[in-house]
Amino acid sequence: MKMNKIGNAEIHVDDQTLVCPVYEGTEGERAVDIRKLRKETGLITYDPGFVNTGSCASDITFIDGEKGILRYRGYDVADLAENCEFIEVAYLLINGSLPTVAQKARYSSLLNKHSMIHEDMREFFIHYPDRSHPMAILSAMAVSLSSFYPEMGENHTEDVDMKVTRLISKLRTIAAFSYKKSIGDPAVYPRHGLKYCENFLNMMFSSPVNKNPYNAVMIEALNKLLIIHADHEQNCSASVVRGVGSAGANLYASISAGICALWGPLHGGANQQVIEMLEAIHRDGGDVDKVIEKAKNKRSPFRLMGFGHRVYKSYDPRAKIAKALCEKVIASTEKIDPLLDIAQELEAKALADPYFIERGLYPNVDFYTGLTYREMGIPTDMFTVMFAIGRLPGWIAQWMEMQKDHDSRIARPRQVYTGPNARKVVPIEKRK
Ligand code: CMC
Repeated sequence: MKMNKIGNAEIHVDDQTLVCPVYEGTEGERAVDIRKLRKETGLITYDPGFVNTGSCASDITFIDGEKGILRYRGYDVADLAENCEFIEVAYLLINGSLPTVAQKARYSSLLNKHSMIHEDMREFFIHYPDRSHPMAILSAMAVSLSSFYPEMGENHTEDVDMKVTRLISKLRTIAAFSYKKSIGDPAVYPRHGLKYCENFLNMMFSSPVNKNPYNAVMIEALNKLLIIHADHEQNCSASVVRGVGSAGANLYASISAGICALWGPLHGGANQQVIEMLEAIHRDGGDVDKVIEKAKNKRSPFRLMGFGHRVYKSYDPRAKIAKALCEKVIASTEKIDPLLDIAQELEAKALADPYFIERGLYPNVDFYTGLTYREMGIPTDMFTVMFAIGRLPGWIAQWMEMQKDHDSRIARPRQVYTGPNARKVVPIEKRK
């Protein structure tokens, strides 16, 4: 987390000049250090949505939104998706380097060892209403882990490795159990002989009457999908995880909050919204032009879901991987999915439309991941859960990095107050 000082910037306020150091990261991103701004000038910055604000320095993930680059710890996401399994990438994000054969074997065995959840936790599932959204269950279960495994909730326990490995393994089990509960099927327990992704598919799709209804294409697709979800620097949910953690809250509470942030339709919840949008277009006779016009209409709150990104102003590299994967999974099922045709037509038309071109709006990760999950038989309301399972190592890495960062302070932005000036309480009988 070392930035190099490359010069100074001056901020002139009335007759005062504040000299602020300018730092540069390893990929040339430059930042003005305004930490003394308020103390020296009385001013604060106004930056809704933190569009121009660097909240931390980080060694984990690099994005160049103009060039469409995404790297985890220096490795291109496409390289990782092509050559690694998800658990190797999880290990990379959390530990900083890819595992050796021996490290991977130990990691796999830890993941297997800690895949069960406390039997009493299963009781929770029984009492959720049938129509509960699995993201609500996932978030509640994540924070509940801190009461079932209190030693895991302490921030300063020795074996962080153990703690985070348990979390990665158990969240997957919780996700699969919540799905089984939602369809009224008995839970399928994790199995030691299976690798991480296959174990998940087994817990999701096997039943007493149908063993292993998944195939190698699905296992490969799941590995790649989780890899492209695995981290995305200071996005909304990662910032929430860091923000909650900055108050000293334990890892489980912080992750639970991150899950809630991810659920939002402008963030990870967009993958569910994309499918719902494509289904609506299909039901409506497939009129793609109408939807594009609606998305461009400033009087309508409607947005083209799965399009646009705060950072990418070119094609999201994750969307490229997801698109290819989606086509491969669909080809393997030998089914025809009309939603794929609609998605491709929508993409082609939006990319040729001046509104989207001028604003740099391209398909983002959620545009094709939802379709791929759907082809794999994962129900729509589980899509964001899949995103959460993938994003978990990123959240953990961000949380751990923050714990070690000497510059880290409790997240506490300022505001510009615009409410009433000081006034006195009028006795209730005299109020109008
Ligand atoms: N459809 C139509 N117009 C859009 C869209 C869209 N999907 N996205 C942005 N715009 C317009 C927006 O109206 C604005 O226009 P104008 O300059 O005329 O006011 C301009 O593009 C810039 O948009 P913004 O809202 O200022 O950009 P932002 O960086 O604050 O928001 C975003 C980024 C992802 C929330 C937004 O693009 C969006 O709502 N997209 C749809 C939801 C979505 O797919 N979210 C998933 C994001 S990727 C995965 C993840 O983060 O988890």
